[in-house]
Amino acid sequence: MTDWKTQYSANIMKSAALPSAELVRGEGARVWDSEGNEYLDFLAGIAVLSLGHAHPALVNAVSTQIATLGHVSNYFATPPQLALAERLLRLTGGDRVYFCNSGAEAIEAGIKLARRTGRPRILSLQNSFHGRTMGSLSLTGKPALREPFEPLLPNVEHIDSTIAALEAAIGPDVSALFVEPIKGEAGVIDLPEGYLAAAREITAKHGVLLILDEIQTGAGRTGSWFAFQREGIVPDAMALAKGIGGGVPIGALVAYGAAADLLVAGQHGSTYGGNPLVTAAADAVLAEIESAGLVANAAARGAEIRAALGGLPLVEEIRGQGLLIGVGLSKPVAPAVVASAAAEGLIVNAPNDTSIRLAPPLIITEADVAEFTTKFTKALEANA
Ligand SMILES: Cc1ncc(COP(=O)(O)O)c(C=O)c1O
Repeated sequence: MTDWKTQYSANIMKSAALPSAELVRGEGARVWDSEGNEYLDFLAGIAVLSLGHAHPALVNAVSTQIATLGHVSNYFATPPQLALAERLLRLTGGDRVYFCNSGAEAIEAGIKLARRTGRPRILSLQNSFHGRTMGSLSLTGKPALREPFEPLLPNVEHIDSTIAALEAAIGPDVSALFVEPIKGEAGVIDLPEGYLAAAREITAKHGVLLILDEIQTGAGRTGSWFAFQREGIVPDAMALAKGIGGGVPIGALVAYGAAADLLVAGQHGSTYGGNPLVTAAADAVLAEIESAGLVANAAARGAEIRAALGGLPLVEEIRGQGLLIGVGLSKPVAPAVVASAAAEGLIVNAPNDTSIRLAPPLIITEADVAEFTTKFTKALEANA
């Protein structure tokens, strides 16, 4: 049989680097590769697997729903779609939700809301990540990702994450400001203290939509259901994906107040958006996060990890909230630390040369944190 690397190199489009292993099975916070190696998974499919791998609640929901009614079309309503909408609106405080298939698509829906205001300009932040489709890429604040695909959407400005920059850029021709409460892909970078509250006040004053990207921070990961809820603000819309589906591809745009009525019949849609299979899955994931107290677990385990990281070799800075943690290193050795961690049986990731991102499943236990600490310490020591 051809080995997986040869097959991958020959058959998969070269849009991503060659993976480091071929994973074949997962359970809880653990995965196994095709050579039989076991890993503690502290990346969770990049902040996706809220319940870890093969959680019975998700397995049962998907199995039951595919055997009952797997797909219809948006000509028909289904009970799981309605149940998920109710639960999401209760948890987010939103007024209406649009369902799609990914984070980038949730951002695209947000761009459509912005366009419906009739104002041409859009603001987003430098160093942000909002996705790779042409619209979401236009908002992404990393020139190296955008430049090979220009021209992108016109009238998008990437501003500094400061209130002064927002005040200088905002005006009556601005439709929306897109913001990640924590910049995950940038290396888990927190916004300046008080930024969201001030941005809310300024955008409201100018009639500009505040659209939050909680694709990576949402669904309990930061130790509150949604990161914005700690700031005492209400956005006009919020993009969700990743953790709400726990591994099943789903995205959602939750809208608040007048923004909830900006799109009218026929203006947006997607074949699979809100289909019964994925909405049953996401509803089961959110129900389990609620009933098992996983938001509180994310806060508690996150605090333990933070405490354990303090004083370890190479660790210069600890960023993020709950179980979305950025470890700032004193030397640009993050890729080597990731490789050493994998050799120890631990999956983490390096969004850049000086940052390690930790985004384990929300189900991790104190014992998992202890195991992580032992393995991560060895990985850091090997590169100090
Ligand atoms: C903050 C943020 N926005 C948008 C996206 C894009 O989501 P997707 O990859 O599901 O299109 C991501 C994915 O990493 C993300 O982290």
